[in-house]
Amino acid sequence: MLNIIKLSALAALTGMTLAAPLQSRDSGKTITVKNNCKNTMTVGWLTNGQSNDHTTLFDLSAGATQSISPPGSNWGGRVWGRDQCSHSDMTHCGTSGAVSPASLAEFLFNGSGGQDYYDVSLVDGYNIPISISPDGKSATSKYQCGSPQAANLPSCPSANQVVVNGQNVGCKSSCSLTGSAQDCCTGAYNTPDKCSINSFAQQVKNANPDAYSYAYDDQTSTYSCNPTGYTVTLCA
Ligand SMILES: *[C@@H]1O[C@H](CO)[C@@H](O)[C@H](O)[C@H]1NC(C)=O
Repeated sequence: MLNIIKLSALAALTGMTLAAPLQSRDSGKTITVKNNCKNTMTVGWLTNGQSNDHTTLFDLSAGATQSISPPGSNWGGRVWGRDQCSHSDMTHCGTSGAVSPASLAEFLFNGSGGQDYYDVSLVDGYNIPISISPDGKSATSKYQCGSPQAANLPSCPSANQVVVNGQNVGCKSSCSLTGSAQDCCTGAYNTPDKCSINSFAQQVKNANPDAYSYAYDDQTSTYSCNPTGYTVTLCA
């Protein structure tokens, strides 16, 4: 997760901000969201660095697909799904962070070396199984055009559960629950050698080896490819 955000910050610094024309070109890439869940889901997507009031939400009925065309030639951001929620409830429905985590599909288009970088992240926590696959490209190795998934979400300890209107809607990671520097790899713990995986994240990682489980999980969680688009499947 952090890696992707760093990469997008770099892309913004090196490429776009200074010399960008008034109307920046789009990558032409699409993210097709497929709802494999039993219920209608509310899909949210947000560009990195933008606040939650920029979240785009749409409802997707069971079995349906809908495509997103993110703006800009170096778009970076996140996509998630929730059991149908009120679009006016931006604290829960419009957010995917520590307060109300969702399983995330994260992307950076046209990053270092012209490659896209993508991952499934459970760093903040999780709600539903999720997977990403590049459209029309086969994997040449696990991390080159591979299809990361988080399919085996551990049951959630009661202290970590997020409850909205009496419904258990998500599970906070230790970092989201405690906010501590040690759990979140911040402050005195802000380098890979000073922050080790905590026991909750280790449990998540054991069950979902493709997914980011904590901030410095880059080595086993970052995928790259350069297809025309991606499919994100909810409940896959
Ligand atoms: C990829 O990014 C570079 C650097 O920002 C930019 O010059 C180029 O036009 C982008 N390519 C595409 C296909 O968007």
